[in-house]
Amino acid sequence: SVSSYKVPASGDTPASTPRLRSAEWFGTADKNGFMYRSWMKNQGIPDHEFEGKPIIGICNTFSELTPCNAHFRKLAEHVKKGILEAGGYPVEFPVFSNGESNLRPTAMFTRNLASMDVEEAIRGNPMDGVVLLVGCDKTTPALLMGAASCDLPTLVVTGGPMLNGKHEGRDIGSGTVVWKLSEQVKAGEISLHEFMSAEAGMSRSAGTCNTMGTASTMACMAESLGVSLPHNAAIPAVDSRRYVLAHLSGNRIVEMVHEDLKLSKVLTKEAFENAIRTNAAIGGSTNAVIHLKAIAGRMGVGLELDDWNRIGRGTPTIVDLQPSGRFLMEEFYYAGGLPAVLRRLGEAYRLPHKKALTINGKTLWDNVRDAPLYNDQVIRSLDNPLVEDGGMCVLRGNLAPKGAVLKPSAATPELMHHRGRAVVFENFDDYKARINDPDLEVDEHSVLVMKHCGPRGYHGMAEVGNMGLPSKLLAKGVTDMVRISDARMSGTAYGTVVLHVAPEAAAGGPLAVVQNGDWIELDAYAGKLNLEVEEEVLVQRLAEGDPRATSNHIASQGGYRQLYIEHVLQADEGCDFDFLVGCRGADVPRHSH
Ligand code: FES
Ligand code: MG
Repeated sequence: SVSSYKVPASGDTPASTPRLRSAEWFGTADKNGFMYRSWMKNQGIPDHEFEGKPIIGICNTFSELTPCNAHFRKLAEHVKKGILEAGGYPVEFPVFSNGESNLRPTAMFTRNLASMDVEEAIRGNPMDGVVLLVGCDKTTPALLMGAASCDLPTLVVTGGPMLNGKHEGRDIGSGTVVWKLSEQVKAGEISLHEFMSAEAGMSRSAGTCNTMGTASTMACMAESLGVSLPHNAAIPAVDSRRYVLAHLSGNRIVEMVHEDLKLSKVLTKEAFENAIRTNAAIGGSTNAVIHLKAIAGRMGVGLELDDWNRIGRGTPTIVDLQPSGRFLMEEFYYAGGLPAVLRRLGEAYRLPHKKALTINGKTLWDNVRDAPLYNDQVIRSLDNPLVEDGGMCVLRGNLAPKGAVLKPSAATPELMHHRGRAVVFENFDDYKARINDPDLEVDEHSVLVMKHCGPRGYHGMAEVGNMGLPSKLLAKGVTDMVRISDARMSGTAYGTVVLHVAPEAAAGGPLAVVQNGDWIELDAYAGKLNLEVEEEVLVQRLAEGDPRATSNHIASQGGYRQLYIEHVLQADEGCDFDFLVGCRGADVPRHSH
């Protein structure tokens, strides 16, 4: 048919398919249609590919600087096979890749930038549906945020976790082992040589962190939200079944275009409530609190910090994975993966919305009701949980008027209710300079407080909230202390750590005026975080200086940092930019010519 090219009449697609968006580019016989097709043809695309097939964008976060996503060219090839087989046409495009391990000051700083890239790339280009290739922590929320603001038929394919780390005959988990070993070096328990030799063993295959860190958490969030096929969260990156899932996802996205199954039909309030419950059951990362809020905000779904209390609290953590527990993602998959967890929750009437729709057109419950479970140690029963109440603790009080969070499964039970005197660090540099000072006035009952590490203060809200303990206390055998900051912490970290204090110090929150020796009471069970200082004194202290001065000064130097500092919302609002919240749809923009 090379010689008989026929421009499809408008709407010349299967009867059930809505008029394809891509036909606005490729479906006309005028000057514009010529131009759109002609340049694409330089890639060797025959005429018939333009004759009304759904065009599927594959949004790829491949980058060799994002090692967790460095195998994504191969992943994309398998998605393409599935798209072609189902009668669609795949077009792969790159977007900003947020690599957690290399990017400074933190990949969180550029999460919103990546989401803008994704949103504009989807809306401005000829595509009818989108497959999001995600893996490393921030790539999942960034792509879902951008896609939600467009609301095309969309599904997620995750890159999958690394195989178990191995070191000296033992399994070691991404990130978690780094925190553990570095404390052991400081306490004089192991040599620097031993520490260094764990590096290669920790990351020995393609994929994301193999602990229940933020990447695995967000993969589980995507699956429980219903925006991926079942088992997407846990199949190891190098397991052939990961590539089968990619192929089947390619098949499915084409059907979704024919069914007009848009993201907004899946990302409902019910879906987010399922995800919050799931997060408690898996012992997921505190970062999910911020990311789910940001994704919901893009979809126009109201999600509040207190929903985490309402939906999550009282739910046992049954997935026994590091950092809270023992095992790693490989074992999680072999034990039955997330479908087995969801089935267990559902059978105990603890899955809030079984009828929530997922991208395969079935309900969440239909997808998991027969899911097999092979290992009760890894996925424990609800009456023998890892943590009795694994839901995220949302804290409030005069120290965090807009909230703070604490992950109980990572905390020491005895410290969940604790009163102690503040040892204050004005910022992360101050902390680093003084934490190991032998003269620092601190004991195991003290509360470590760090300021200016929030979204504005650090530009991106660094993962420094799990401040390492003073060497002199580590040497005495102290393993945990209450720590409070406006920072985040890595999903691979642990400890009795109060995070995301809002408003942050650099936005004028009361955290800015905590002083050495102030008494602080944390009562995680009651959801309270209070500075025992009279209100008048607090007001007086707050009036004495503007904690925003430094970030305002830095903002004045320009660049993306200026946009970031001037528009980033606080942690309780998901740290999105104020002007990005909401769904703007994917109406076809005007021509350029
Ligand atoms: Fe990329 Fe952990 S650093 S997933
Ligand atoms: Mg992380």
